[in-house]
Amino acid sequence: MATQTMDKKVYTSYAPASIGNVSLGFDLLGAALKPIDGSKLGDEVEISEAASFSLQVKGRFADKLPTDPDSNIVTQCYHHYLRCLANKGIASATLPTVALVLHKHLPIGSGLGSSASSIVAAFHALNQFYTALVGKTLFDDNELLLMMGELEGQISGSVHYDNVAPCFMGGLTLMAEHQQQVALSLPIFKQWYWVSCYSGISVSTAAARAILPKQIPMATTIQFGRQLAVFIDALYRQDEKLAAAMMRDVIAEPYRKSLLPRFDDSREFAEQNGALAFGISGSGPSVFAVCDSLEQATIINQWLVNNYIQNDTGFSHICQLDQQGAVIY
Ligand code: HSE
Repeated sequence: MATQTMDKKVYTSYAPASIGNVSLGFDLLGAALKPIDGSKLGDEVEISEAASFSLQVKGRFADKLPTDPDSNIVTQCYHHYLRCLANKGIASATLPTVALVLHKHLPIGSGLGSSASSIVAAFHALNQFYTALVGKTLFDDNELLLMMGELEGQISGSVHYDNVAPCFMGGLTLMAEHQQQVALSLPIFKQWYWVSCYSGISVSTAAARAILPKQIPMATTIQFGRQLAVFIDALYRQDEKLAAAMMRDVIAEPYRKSLLPRFDDSREFAEQNGALAFGISGSGPSVFAVCDSLEQATIINQWLVNNYIQNDTGFSHICQLDQQGAVIY
């Protein structure tokens, strides 16, 4: 829904935080998060017509972004969107320019899909604005996802869709990485709670990828493939126990956990207190615990607040999966 301001349409896109990898699907699985207390956990981009392009950055984490708007990923999304329009034969000179406002609610380098959230909200808002203006859909969801992945790749050093896809589509997504079908929506366990805790320190995705080995042993490769295949099958059959048993990260966690103070203690506490699974959210430092009871989720959430959070910037939420993904209001 759009709001009217001085006869001009203003749209805002909200794009939720996400868990990349979900432990067992390195670069291939992602999940969108929605705090159960109704609070927002995601960035927003507001768009309106203006005489010249501008980007304003607001919100709790605005001061962590470069001050030069041209270096901001949202500005880069705007230029990329116009290039893609030009490739469709729509020259930017024939269209009005826009004023964008990024509300930066997610911390940078948190493992919550912060850059993906800004990118998704930006493309979603741009597409909504220009589609409404010309009166026909300019880019479909798959085309938008391809653009989002490309921009995410510019930030993290490699194109991977496991944050942008769940953030945009909602729920739990599997990457197909096919030109006509970038990602697929998977069934979920609606009764699961996902405790998501950000420790407050920053870990760059590029650095967290650099510490991983370039080659994976045969036995690990087979375990990875088996877990992912069985997990997907278990989702479709709603076999909660088998699905949870597959949620082991054999690719990244053994290396990345050294970057995360108190990771092993946190896993131990979560497992002893009924968590079905525990792992690193994306490239960290955020961690997540999956529970099938709110009581257990509450106990684990409190422990993580008291023990995993390192400073005032950290926070923790009990979430369920955000099944809507990016929304316009
Ligand atoms: N799949 C990516 C990684 C996610 O683990 O490097 C980053 O959020």
